[in-house]
Amino acid sequence: MRNDKKLVLIVDDEKDIREILAETLEGLDFEYMTACDGEEAMDCIKQHNDIIDVVICDLKMPKVSGDQVIAYGAKNYPLIPIIILTGFAQLDMALDHMRLGAFDYMTKPFRVKELLLLLNRALEMRQLQEDKIAYQNTLEIRVEEATQALHNQVVQTVSSFILAIEAKDRYTQGHSKRVAEYSTLMAKKLGLSEDEQANLLYAAQLHDIGKIGISEQLLNKPGKLNKVEYETIKTHPSKGVKILEPLDFLGHLLPAVEFHHEWFDGSGYPKGLAKDKIPFLARIIAVCDTFDAMTSERSYRKPLPLKIAIEEIKEGSATQFDPLVVTAFLEIFEETLEQQMLEKGAT
Ligand SMILES: [Fe+2]
Repeated sequence: MRNDKKLVLIVDDEKDIREILAETLEGLDFEYMTACDGEEAMDCIKQHNDIIDVVICDLKMPKVSGDQVIAYGAKNYPLIPIIILTGFAQLDMALDHMRLGAFDYMTKPFRVKELLLLLNRALEMRQLQEDKIAYQNTLEIRVEEATQALHNQVVQTVSSFILAIEAKDRYTQGHSKRVAEYSTLMAKKLGLSEDEQANLLYAAQLHDIGKIGISEQLLNKPGKLNKVEYETIKTHPSKGVKILEPLDFLGHLLPAVEFHHEWFDGSGYPKGLAKDKIPFLARIIAVCDTFDAMTSERSYRKPLPLKIAIEEIKEGSATQFDPLVVTAFLEIFEETLEQQMLEKGAT
């Protein structure tokens, strides 16, 4: 176990200097280690970097010189301060070495008072740097915790909203979940970033949240809707935005919710946006949403067979849907979706 004494590595090729320094340090209540050239110094730093507090290093030494020790220490163990010990004639060099990463310099012959002052400053600086690193680490942990808490909040909020939507409209039970599942496959197929994948998942789950604001009678009405009723249904994306707007942490999902009924050719609602004016996530949800609407039971009809539904999606390419998204959807359908759905009883 370490005691409270600080440990100084003395690096000098002159035995006398090493001995004087060692004796002085002992008198000042420091512990020490010695190295008689640069090579030994680097070995020693490598092996004992966890216990060395400060290095005092000569510049001119045979084999490996002091500048190499400084560069090695600054690169690999930047927390250990290195004090250069130099003859007056080498002062210019000493200043250059400080630029390389040495903490300060001291000329030979040194004075005890000066040595103590330098060591204390070096130790103080080291402590400050260690405190700074510890603070940064704590900060990083706190940011991570806050991000996780926010994420959990999103997940919980989204889950309660889904329950609320599905409680109203029995025909769309599981719809949000399925649209989210198809969207997740699409996100991977389209190579979205992890953040965008998560946004798409939440937006897909929430896309019909505005239906909370539409009467149950209308949502569950068997048979065709009249014009007024259809216009009322068409208000659900804007209603969804109104519901989610007060929740700042879901703000980034609003465009996908608001525009999931826009058509690629500009003939959709609520704004009649076209092509890349429609947010990309909304264009993905549009395909997944329509496909699920066709392949699940509605108040006015039975599920359509998969082949017919997929033909409808193909037909809608470039008019209702972004062709790029349709291509990706056809790929996931062929690769996994068709099989999965047939296994679950689709026709
Ligand atoms: Fe919708």
